Amino acid sequence: MKRFAATLLTFAAIGASLYATEAAPELNSQYHDSSKCKSCHAAIVNEWSGSYHAKSHYKHDEYLRQSMEYYARKTRKPINAVKVECAACHNPRVAVTSTDINYQIDVLMGLDEGSEVNAAVSDSSLSEGVNCLVCHNVDSINHDLPADKRGVHRIKWNPVGIMSGPIEDAKSPYHKTQYRDFFGKDPKQLCFVCHANDRSTENFVFANTQKEYKDTKKQCADCHMSPKKEGVASNLPIDNGKPKKRMVREHGFVGAHTNWLWQDALGIEAKKSGDSFIVTLSNENPHNIPTGFGARELILDVIYRSGSKVIETKSISMTQHYTDKRGKPTIPHLASSSTDDMSVPAQGSKTFKVPMVKGAGQVTFELHYRLVNDEIRSLLELKEPQWSEKKFINRTTIRL
Ligand code: HEC
Ligand code: HEC
Ligand code: HEC
Ligand code: HEC
Ligand code: HEC
Repeated sequence: MKRFAATLLTFAAIGASLYATEAAPELNSQYHDSSKCKSCHAAIVNEWSGSYHAKSHYKHDEYLRQSMEYYARKTRKPINAVKVECAACHNPRVAVTSTDINYQIDVLMGLDEGSEVNAAVSDSSLSEGVNCLVCHNVDSINHDLPADKRGVHRIKWNPVGIMSGPIEDAKSPYHKTQYRDFFGKDPKQLCFVCHANDRSTENFVFANTQKEYKDTKKQCADCHMSPKKEGVASNLPIDNGKPKKRMVREHGFVGAHTNWLWQDALGIEAKKSGDSFIVTLSNENPHNIPTGFGARELILDVIYRSGSKVIETKSISMTQHYTDKRGKPTIPHLASSSTDDMSVPAQGSKTFKVPMVKGAGQVTFELHYRLVNDEIRSLLELKEPQWSEKKFINRTTIRL
């Protein structure tokens, strides 16, 4: 019996070592950050630097920072241990990929200052979040791992100085290049390294764009970068004294923070049925709207008018509320359950009933979006106006 247990233990140990996460190799000064790419990839660096990939760091995204602080307080983990945990997808070049109880004891003993963990999370090469040297230093993606192994835990890295990309015959005097299918043939595979299976301490999955995705011919890059168009991959004059023309995409990674992407993202239709209205929201996109991070919110404002006078307004919120093990309101990362998913399914629709108001001759249905619902904004004490700003999606009016 004893021997049997020992064999099992060895098996478990082998299993664990097969899944060992490979920390990204340390960057040298030649490839330290995006400023090293700018002279030859000026347009791309510019586009990327306005994106939320570039803001994916404790210092640059208030929502992320406040979530990390809240999570650390509630789990009683040191903030640096939380930074390491979240870094798996937010800052995958972090040199330390997990921490243990010994580190927590060190922190309690006041020994954090000189620690490996402290040095790793303070490394300035992380402050650019998901940058060029995250995506373009990936050698391969391990698709055989369990679905919850994401970000750095799913990546095998190239040595520093080798850039993987979509161009089969790329040649650069500054770095080596290697073609990869997850840039060329099927770039959504790269996106799914992180945009999938985001789960809480209670193993509750609260974001999973990969699972929602209804495969169409569209790539994520078609909407979140740009359609392929003629341009240059590098402005270096490598083609008879001129930059080489290539089919390229923009690197803006526009998303939920960008107002124009919301315009018409959902269709809206309303019709009268008895003494109420049937309102249908339709979604042609290949993932749910909203997709991704929890506590996003759709708001349907209904404005009832008689002549030009507004006689009543109603506001309907469609969002998710999260509860912890004890049934208290919490943030997605600490949730053990949530209210129903209110998003409009990929290439589908959602219908609901809105009451009529006596005397109304004209009713307008106006759909908006908000990045963070009231509950989470107040739990995290978010101050920046962007989290509560209403972004316009669509409207329709019925005359009675
Ligand atoms: C989130 C991942 C990601 C990040 C971050 C990223 N790229 Fe890319 N990059 C891609 C993908 C995907 C493609 C391939 C797009 C296609 O052709 O379908 C690409 C393509 C390229 C190309 C080839 C030209 C083109 O547009 O196809 C170059 C050069 C490039 N990237 C440089 C950079 C630089 C420099 C940075 C940093 C400022 C950067 N990338 C950041 C994902 C990324
Ligand atoms: C001295 C100029 C120079 C610098 C600096 C430079 N590159 Fe490049 N890079 C090029 C050239 C030239 C190409 C090839 C363009 C072509 O063939 O159209 C290229 C191609 C690429 C590709 C496409 C590879 C492929 O196979 O698809 C990527 C990705 C890339 N560079 C990333 C980077 C990143 C990230 C940095 C910063 C760490 C960087 N480059 C710095 C000149 C440079
Ligand atoms: C290494 C992990 C990783 C990879 C790979 C990755 N992303 Fe992201 N992405 C993130 C993180 C983390 C954020 C959130 C950053 C924040 O808001 O602080 C994000 C945010 C976004 C957003 C939201 C931006 C906004 O303003 O709301 C879009 C859109 C996006 N990514 C698209 C893509 C696409 C398309 C790909 C594949 C080409 C991709 N990502 C690959 C980690 C990744
Ligand atoms: C047909 C266009 C289209 C395609 C293709 C597409 N998206 Fe989106 N995506 C949108 C629109 C519109 C939004 C804005 C609404 C929203 O945030 O839900 C969005 C939003 C997002 C966001 C922001 C969510 C948030 O709350 O911050 C992420 C992340 C994202 N998409 C990832 C992806 C990934 C990954 C793929 C590929 C698997 C993809 N998208 C393919 C249209 C598209
Ligand atoms: C499995 C990969 C993954 C891990 C691990 C992860 N995130 Fe994220 N996170 C993402 C992606 C991808 C996005 C962008 C998708 C979106 O916006 O919907 C995101 C977005 C966010 C946002 C929204 C930011 C904004 O500007 O709207 C917050 C807040 C956040 N994450 C907090 C955390 C915290 C706190 C941790 C660690 C406890 C963490 N995340 C760990 C993948 C991850």
